[in-house]
Amino acid sequence: MRKKIVAGNWKMNTTLQEGVALAKEVNEALAGATPKCDVIIAVPFTHLASINAVIDQNKLGLGAENCADHKSGAYTGEVSAPMVASTGATYVILGHSERRQYYGETSEILKEKVNLALANNLTPIFCIGEVLEERENGSYLEVVKKQIEDALFDLSADDFSKLILAYEPVWAIGTGKTATDDQAEEMHAFIREVIANKYGKDVAENTSILYGGSCKPSNAPQLFAKPNVDGGLIGGASLKAADFMGIVNAF
Ligand code: PGA
Repeated sequence: MRKKIVAGNWKMNTTLQEGVALAKEVNEALAGATPKCDVIIAVPFTHLASINAVIDQNKLGLGAENCADHKSGAYTGEVSAPMVASTGATYVILGHSERRQYYGETSEILKEKVNLALANNLTPIFCIGEVLEERENGSYLEVVKKQIEDALFDLSADDFSKLILAYEPVWAIGTGKTATDDQAEEMHAFIREVIANKYGKDVAENTSILYGGSCKPSNAPQLFAKPNVDGGLIGGASLKAADFMGIVNAF
């Protein structure tokens, strides 16, 4: 059975000290709890090793928000998948729309990143999603299908099974405008069908597909109640432990 997951994406927020304090708070909230889902935080590179030292990864998974498309070498300023893994992190967000939009990440680049993440035992949380214009002109299903095909369909079934997917409609990210539970369910069911057609029903049924985009404690219960929505990728609301735990407890 596929896992239910709530993952925080801190983006470019918190200093090291603030981040360690926030991670400790979430870790403490989870210490006495038995959530009905896996809980993960994806944090800035600079925070990974310090946060690894203060959390119990049996209860709170740790991930990076990106990694380089090269293993090592003369790529000033980049952080590689082996470097991320060496901090103790075990997840990495890849293909976030902010990376695609502001840093020119194409499917070709993302393919390399996914391969390097998998080769270093990092679980990619791979993001897909349409922009507003594509939602409005009705091409959103095709757009997301192509994002999946272009970046992921060279993977073996075994490697594909290691991925977590996150559907994040770009028009819903950080805008306060959430997709309705029916809009999310339509897309998630479609994504599962796209996976089933390529890798078979078993792989599709076992792939966790998270929803992201202005998910908060108030709307998480309806979204997570949908059969094909396996949890959330949470931006803004992951920066306050109480809000983040409110979403975790929506399961
Ligand atoms: P948001 O971001 O929850 O702030 O909309 C989600 C994301 O970009 O992962």
